[in-house]
Amino acid sequence: EIVRVSRSGRNGAKTYEEAYSLCSDAALLINTTPAGMYPDTDGMPFDISRFDHPEGLLDVIYNPLNTRLIQDARSKGIRAENGLYMLVGQAVLSSELFTGKKAGEDVIEQIYQELLSEKRNIVLIGMPGCGKSTLGKMLAERLGKQMVETDEIISQEAGMSIKDIFAEYGEQHFRDLESEVVKRYSVKGGTVISTGGGAILRKENVEALRLNGVVVFIDRPLDQLKATDSRPLSNDRSKLEKLYEERYQIYKDTADMIVKTGGTKTDSAEKLWEALR
Ligand code: S3P
Repeated sequence: EIVRVSRSGRNGAKTYEEAYSLCSDAALLINTTPAGMYPDTDGMPFDISRFDHPEGLLDVIYNPLNTRLIQDARSKGIRAENGLYMLVGQAVLSSELFTGKKAGEDVIEQIYQELLSEKRNIVLIGMPGCGKSTLGKMLAERLGKQMVETDEIISQEAGMSIKDIFAEYGEQHFRDLESEVVKRYSVKGGTVISTGGGAILRKENVEALRLNGVVVFIDRPLDQLKATDSRPLSNDRSKLEKLYEERYQIYKDTADMIVKTGGTKTDSAEKLWEALR
């Protein structure tokens, strides 16, 4: 049984409220509305928690790759896919109709994988000094992607160092600037994003980073991290250790992937590369 749902409930469709009450046992939910599509990335077409135990969600949006709805479904353990495969599939079949030429066997899968890796952001998170910037640069070069350091953009736009922003305007102001930059680059796609160590503390930032990103925790052991004067929240050893203790679990919980580093930067870059492959 296929049930069509719309806001108005016109032309034989059910309204969302009717669907929640009459179809709460739905197995598969498919979103074909633009709610959640760029630039409305906060949009949510419906509340998936109102269904009892859906097995899967297909959101036909592919910009961003992971809408809020997809993220919400996955956080509840529901398998969820975007519309990129469908986009490519229909394009290949259309092309066959137009040209009369049969496409190769794996062409849909191949183009899908290419587009996915082109569009995807790789987001590096982790403690101050864990090597996010260095590894990010090496990775971006290897992947031919653009590389962005959120701290660098914030500092450039404010015309002052991160340390001075903290000293003059306080941490909250810095965090607001950080959230704005995180959102701007998250929606862009195709970028390696090296975040500041505290960027994952705000839920809104994590949701933004996930829109197009695979989130990778660069897990470097505490004894290899250094306190530095330019980092106001970790400018002495005891502050750094406290941050590590407070945040380690948050980094782990936020990450799609954890890469344990610690050797030379070439070793670490290789580990990151292998993990992403
Ligand atoms: C911070 C880390 C810094 C910078 C700011 C706050 C943090 O970035 O964003 O000083 O809260 O851990 P790095 O992780 O690049 O040092």
